[in-house]
Amino acid sequence: MIHTDAAVVTSFDEPPHFLPFDLPEPKDGEVVVDVLAAGLHPRVRSGASGAHYTSTGALPLIPGVDGVGRRADGALVYFAVDDTRHGTMAAKAVIDQRRTIALPDGADAVRIAAAMNPAMSSWVALRRRVAWTPGASVLVLGATGNAGAMAVQVAKLLGAGEVVAAGRDRGRLALVGEAGADRTIALDDASADAELADAARDVDVVLDYLWGAPTERAIRAVLTARTDRSRPLDWVEIGSVAGPDIALPSAALRSAHLRLIGSGQGSIGPREYLAELPSLVDAIGEGRISVQTRTARLADVESVWSEPEAPGIRTVLVP
Ligand SMILES: NC(=O)c1ccc[n+]([C@@H]2O[C@H](COP(=O)([O-])OP(=O)(O)OC[C@H]3O[C@@H](n4cnc5c(N)ncnc54)[C@H](OP(=O)(O)O)[C@@H]3O)[C@@H](O)[C@H]2O)c1
Repeated sequence: MIHTDAAVVTSFDEPPHFLPFDLPEPKDGEVVVDVLAAGLHPRVRSGASGAHYTSTGALPLIPGVDGVGRRADGALVYFAVDDTRHGTMAAKAVIDQRRTIALPDGADAVRIAAAMNPAMSSWVALRRRVAWTPGASVLVLGATGNAGAMAVQVAKLLGAGEVVAAGRDRGRLALVGEAGADRTIALDDASADAELADAARDVDVVLDYLWGAPTERAIRAVLTARTDRSRPLDWVEIGSVAGPDIALPSAALRSAHLRLIGSGQGSIGPREYLAELPSLVDAIGEGRISVQTRTARLADVESVWSEPEAPGIRTVLVP
């Protein structure tokens, strides 16, 4: 057994507690790392509450899907885990070397741990889920969160033409505009549908972090305004902060070339994710994707868990 201190979920109705935990011994291809930083992403919260679609219901569990750690030989690595019980929010983690990439000496562990999950959402969606053509125009629906704001920059980095950013937090939307969006649409405005129709009528790709009612309205607004309805539109479902379901009129699929797809664990395989990690680490390390972080001590996980998140700032737990 590997003894460690960890954030431990003992009930899906409570925040994790800081407790000792025994990890299984590493198997072939696995090593133990000292964890330096692990991001508190929405995905981590949904796993810890038993609500994520990969959840098995088994407890106790250590939450956390990725992090930065140091191997016994001193190497700094970014690692992702695919184990619903033994996550990354611990002083030590047992990691599969195949799900690891080496980081350069001096890499900023907190920054990498904060940015990889939100940035990867758009990076893999554009590189693995759509037939991406440089110059394509993109609508980011829900551009005010960490992942949505990064999606605007990622789309530009990957060669997008016009990028339209839509969200409800006007302060954050203004920052997203300064960070590279060509046009911003405030979704809380009475004229939002008309503005979306005007700005996004001919986009090629939608990166959708919202779902629920705002997506129902946006699909209607964009499709009915399309200049050429036979022009393909890849609508990529990535997040669901505004609701888990939508009602989709059948006519939406008949009357326009709408290709409704999703991007996430499952629709993209582990190999595909891993293949994208090195270039994404480079982009984050080189500062081409902005990230704001706040660090908190792993030992304080229980209180940190219940604190409200500051918009656009990713909390990172540090053992
Ligand atoms: N599939 C993937 O690969 C993948 C990867 C990473 C993340 N995700 C998902 O992407 C989503 C966003 O992640 P994140 O890291 O960006 O989270 P985040 O930083 O917490 O951002 C969520 C944002 O959603 C906004 N929001 C909440 N309800 C809204 C509503 N009804 N209308 C408009 N905006 C609303 C919030 O802004 P205000 O409340 O300030 O308006 C907040 O800024 C989550 O669902 C996450 O699970 C998916």
